[in-house]
Amino acid sequence: MNKKITCIIGVILVLVVIFIIVFLLNKDEGDNKKMDNIKENVSNDITFDFDTHTVLLNSGYKMPLNGIGTYSLTGDVCYNSIRSALDSGVRLIDTAYMYNNEEEVGRAIRDSNVPREEIFVITKIYPTQYDNPEQAIEMALEKLDIGYIDMMLLHHPGEGDVEAYKAMEKYVEEGKIRSLGLSNWYVEELEEFLPQIDIMPALVQNEIHPYYQENDVIPYIQSLGIVVEGWYPFGGRGHTSELLNDEVIVDIANNHNVSAAQVILRWNLQKGVVVIPGSSNPKHIKENTKIYDFELTIDEMNRINALDRNEKHDWY
Ligand SMILES: NC(=O)c1ccc[n+]([C@@H]2O[C@H](COP(=O)([O-])OP(=O)(O)OC[C@H]3O[C@@H](n4cnc5c(N)ncnc54)[C@H](OP(=O)(O)O)[C@@H]3O)[C@@H](O)[C@H]2O)c1
Repeated sequence: MNKKITCIIGVILVLVVIFIIVFLLNKDEGDNKKMDNIKENVSNDITFDFDTHTVLLNSGYKMPLNGIGTYSLTGDVCYNSIRSALDSGVRLIDTAYMYNNEEEVGRAIRDSNVPREEIFVITKIYPTQYDNPEQAIEMALEKLDIGYIDMMLLHHPGEGDVEAYKAMEKYVEEGKIRSLGLSNWYVEELEEFLPQIDIMPALVQNEIHPYYQENDVIPYIQSLGIVVEGWYPFGGRGHTSELLNDEVIVDIANNHNVSAAQVILRWNLQKGVVVIPGSSNPKHIKENTKIYDFELTIDEMNRINALDRNEKHDWY
C-alpha cells in the first residue's frame, strides 16, 4: 500500500516538473518571438536634428539633445542651477525621486518665464518604490507640480519593475506622463523586459563617457528605435579632472578652440547620445550648451573612441 502511494506521488512530481519545464520553454519561446517581432517592426527614425537641437522620440514627442543633470544638486543650489540653465537656453532637465530635488526643479520651472511646453522634464522612480508605483508616480507629479511629466524612467532594474512600468503606462494613457524610459538597462535586461510591456521605452539612460563607452550596448538600443542618453558625461564628480585633462581630449579641444568639456559633449552627440551634464556653475552651464558650432572629424572621433577602458565609475 505504502509502496503504491509513494509510486503515485513520484509520478505526480515528475509530471509537475515536466509541466513546469514545458511552461518555461514555451514562455521563453514566446518572449523570443515577441522580441523578434519588436526588432522587425522598428520604424521610427531617431536621427538627431542638429538644426533644431532635438530628436523625435518613438512616443511622438520631440526632446532636446542637451540638458542639465541634477544629481547631487539640492535645495537652493538646485533651484539656482535650474534657473541659470533655463536662462542659458537649456530645455531638458534630468531629475529623480532619489535626488531629493523634484520640488526645487518644479519651483524653478514655475518661477521662470519659459513656457512649460518648451521644457522637457525627465524624472525617475526608484526600485524601493516599485511595490507601490501609483503612489510613487503621484508623489512625483505632486512634487514637480508642473502639470504633466514629459518622461518617467525606472531608475534601475529591480523586483516589480514590470508592474511598475505597467503603472506608468496607465499614466501615459491618462496624459499625466508623456513618454517612458529605462535607466541602467543593458542588452540582456532589455531582451527580458521588452516582451513583457506594451509601450516601447522612448529612451534608455546609461553611464557613458570616453573611459566607459558601451560601444556594444549603444547601437543595440538605437537599433530598437530607442534614444540613448548618457549619464556621467565627464566621468561623474571625483573623476572629472582626469577626463577633462586627458591629453587626447585637450589636444582636440585646442584644435577647435573649445573646452575639453565641450569636446566630450560633442563626441556624445555625434554618436547619437543625448547629454545631461551636471553643474551648479552658471559659466559651465552656459559653456555646456555651446556644442553646435563645431564638428569633430572622423579621425578625432576615432581618437576619443580609442580612449575606452571599460572603466565604470559607479556600481550600476
Ligand atoms: N540614471 C542614473 O542612474 C544616473 C546616475 C548618475 C547620474 N545621472 C544623471 O546624469 C547627470 C550627469 O552626471 P553628474 O552630474 O553626476 O556628473 P558629470 O556630469 O559627469 O559631472 C559633473 C561635474 O562636472 C563639472 N562640470 C560640469 N560642466 C563643466 C564644465 N563645462 N567644465 C568643467 N567642469 C564641469 C561639475 O562641476 P560644476 O558644478 O562646478 O560645474 C560637476 O562636478 C546627473 O546630474 C544625473 O542627472 C543618472
